Amino acid sequence: MQQQEERFERSGTRERNLAMELVRVTEAAALSAGRWMGKGNKEMVDQAAVDAMRHALDGVDMDGVVVIGEGEKDEAPMLYIGEQVGNGAEPEVDVAVDPVDGTRLLSLGLPGALAVVATAERGTMFAAPPGVFYMEKIAVGPAMKNVIDINAPVAVNLDRIARARESRIDDLTVVVLDRPRHQDMIRQVREVGARIRLITDGDVSAAIQAAMEDYRGVDVLMGVGGAPEAVLAAAAIKCIGGEIQCKIWPRNEQERDKLKTEGIDLERVYRTDDLVQGTDVSFAATGITSGELLDGVQYFGWGARTTSIMMRSRSGTVRYIQARHKWRKNGRSVDI
Ligand code: FBP
Repeated sequence: MQQQEERFERSGTRERNLAMELVRVTEAAALSAGRWMGKGNKEMVDQAAVDAMRHALDGVDMDGVVVIGEGEKDEAPMLYIGEQVGNGAEPEVDVAVDPVDGTRLLSLGLPGALAVVATAERGTMFAAPPGVFYMEKIAVGPAMKNVIDINAPVAVNLDRIARARESRIDDLTVVVLDRPRHQDMIRQVREVGARIRLITDGDVSAAIQAAMEDYRGVDVLMGVGGAPEAVLAAAAIKCIGGEIQCKIWPRNEQERDKLKTEGIDLERVYRTDDLVQGTDVSFAATGITSGELLDGVQYFGWGARTTSIMMRSRSGTVRYIQARHKWRKNGRSVDI
């Protein structure tokens, strides 16, 4: 990797930005899955996104292995963990996908569903051990990076965040998935007077919003969400700056005992750099239904319009891309 960088420097060639190519992948998934908006069919939402994403990934110059995907090979025909994606050219990368983050949102036509892909150098993304489905999370932007502690009480974290933000606690907004498991945490947030935005789904987008320095809609994401989504959020935060801290969260006593017997350390805190150790991280997401972060797909007779966000850790550049896609050009159908 370093040799490659030196070669680029000597030749004056600009380094390749893989995130630019990943945007085409998330656009393809969004364009395909968006057709299923509001039809109440979560399976078809997922199927459409997975098919389109898989096809688009094959066109990307990379030798990728899916680390965060649709599950094990026998339960997922495509984008399963361990599947090879890309056209086999350099670089060798780990690939994390969530063809639709917010499957339920999309199937009901609710705001905030996204198609998401991230890559990092091979062997650098955290692969959750089998049986680990959820993680407790706290995510913030760069100014609060060094003040949060997932093991500290809610009140302590919010006090530190407010100081780092130079704002009052009651000006802070905490984003939380609306789940019964968060009742006690929500009570604690309310006790200290911070504001709360409850979301029904989609904590990758929520983590990105919390980390963005130029977005003040949300100051911190707190609570338990999917373990794969934690890795995707970490990939984005690696690019934006900021911090996510996570702990494996067993759903019940039985799961806790099982994970402990398997030697999994439930007290371990996974920080951004543990979830994604790589230093060459690329991330792309495209809106499927309009939400706080991105507009959803709009369809027209001639084609469609998508809005995406793409970023890479090397430069820290975050780009928003609005694209017009034509179904046909010069009488021929177009491969987006
Ligand atoms: P999917 O659409 O990929 O199923 O995930 C939606 C989501 O809301 C995630 O953003 C979040 O991390 C997870 O589900 C929370 O899980 P649960 O709905 O089981 O509480």
